[in-house]
Amino acid sequence: MSGPVLIFDSGVGGLSVAAALRRHFPEAALCYACDNAWLPYGLRPDAALVRRIVATCKAAVEACRPAVLVVACNTASTLALEPLRAALEVPVVGTVPAIKPAAALSRTRHLGLLATSATVRRPYTRRLIERFAADCRVTCVAADALVGEAEAWLGGREPDAARLDMALASLWQAARLEAAPLDTVVLGCTHFPLLTASLSALAPTPLAWIDSGDAIARRVGQLVAPLTASGGRPGPGFATAPNAALAYALAAYGFGPPAPLALADAATH
Ligand code: DGL
Repeated sequence: MSGPVLIFDSGVGGLSVAAALRRHFPEAALCYACDNAWLPYGLRPDAALVRRIVATCKAAVEACRPAVLVVACNTASTLALEPLRAALEVPVVGTVPAIKPAAALSRTRHLGLLATSATVRRPYTRRLIERFAADCRVTCVAADALVGEAEAWLGGREPDAARLDMALASLWQAARLEAAPLDTVVLGCTHFPLLTASLSALAPTPLAWIDSGDAIARRVGQLVAPLTASGGRPGPGFATAPNAALAYALAAYGFGPPAPLALADAATH
């Protein structure tokens, strides 16, 4: 099976996954597509979102002809992996919160889950916690404000520390507990690893930040071997609302300026 690895997210969050793929497979051809016209996914109703994700990924697969699609979005993966697999012929790798490795690491048995409102309330996420962290306390924090901060940061503006701090107040409170303080945080949204330096600087105690990037890269390597090489060319970029800030962010991660992605299904607009 030849073709690039297609990375899909609502916005720039998938670039954290692109970075993990590049660390594991520096020569691999990558292609990036995002649905920034519908950002943020975490605040959208589920039924409309499923239709939209399937339509956007279909258009992106058509445009990129990839060997594999990486849904580099927890909000999309915890909702739409089954309909995506039914609608597409290429293999689909999803991104779900890294509860299992975080539970393996935590000494205090108290984890934080930082994700979008949608991911925090999904049954899929609840099942992950029951299955892999049954003996842990899990403090779930819906931190949608961080999505906008990561978008702005990659577009060239510093993250707003006061805004981050306010969104994370309940996480910091759990880290300050005297008995069994939280020691490990799952970054359950692909936008959040882009902010790790700011998050670490604000945290009241040293915390381990765990994301899914390495696990996704390993899964891609298992499914497609060998990966098609890029030959040193920048990966193509696609977006539902191309703009200059996105072009700036894509360029920093080795992708060309975004071309418009046209969706076939008018019902998804
Ligand atoms: N990056 C996405 C995720 O991993 C979500 C951002 C959004 O709300 O659009 O969940």
